[in-house]
Amino acid sequence: MKDPSLRRSLALFRAFRTEQSDPERFYGLLAQDAVDQVERHAPLAGSLVADVGGGAGHFTEAFRARGAHAYLFEPDLAELHARTGRTPEHAVVADGYWLPLADGAVDVCFSSNVLEHVPDPETFISEMVRVTRPGGLLYLSYTNWLSPWGGHETSPWHLLGADRARRRYRRRTGHNAKHSMGDNLHRVHIGPVLRHVRRRADVEIISARSRYWPFLAEAVVRVPGLREIASWNLLLVMRRTSP
Ligand SMILES: C[S@@+](CC[C@H](N)C(=O)[O-])C[C@H]1O[C@@H](n2cnc3c(N)ncnc32)[C@H](O)[C@@H]1O
Repeated sequence: MKDPSLRRSLALFRAFRTEQSDPERFYGLLAQDAVDQVERHAPLAGSLVADVGGGAGHFTEAFRARGAHAYLFEPDLAELHARTGRTPEHAVVADGYWLPLADGAVDVCFSSNVLEHVPDPETFISEMVRVTRPGGLLYLSYTNWLSPWGGHETSPWHLLGADRARRRYRRRTGHNAKHSMGDNLHRVHIGPVLRHVRRRADVEIISARSRYWPFLAEAVVRVPGLREIASWNLLLVMRRTSP
């Protein structure tokens, strides 16, 4: 599907609405879409790919279907087992802060929707950069806090305060939200992450855009303030430069 395009965004949105009832459909489509985005910048057949925080493995699987040697690095056993009740093939139980990989080991380092779940985004990014070979590709996408979806299942009420949104969620559903501020969800914004990667001498930005927007996907990210609310999800595609 053309990217960005209204057709693609609508297809992803429709699938997203079935995330709870049909996660295979949603994550399968999202993974295909992300792998398409990567393949526009880097050949995948035969390449070594690290999927950091890859959850149940949909993305790793999509990379492998394109001929990549992809490995899933995921610290949470419950996430790893969510699909089949057992650890997927090609998975390593590992934290993104300390990847069990040598410097410059991989051709593509990929992370989808993980950065907002770590308390120290800069260290997480540094580790992704460390394991990527010079000339290799980094794909980093996350939902920023002020996005309408920033509070995840408590959205958009998180915009009125994380605690209030969590209490409201509990009242309405009778159970606790999966994500809790300061525990497994953090206020990660767009401006500071962009400034951090622009300051780095070991990566160059190929694209900084809204991951899902059907139009103006790069333009929206250029406007401070507006980008925090309107981007929904920041996608950074970067090239590792020589040290
Ligand atoms: C919202 S899920 C995203 C899963 C998948 N990447 C996707 O895009 O659907 C966030 C994932 O980040 C993982 N995660 C949280 N902290 C992490 C860390 N320090 N290192 C690596 N993964 C982490 C969680 O266990 C979870 O699987």
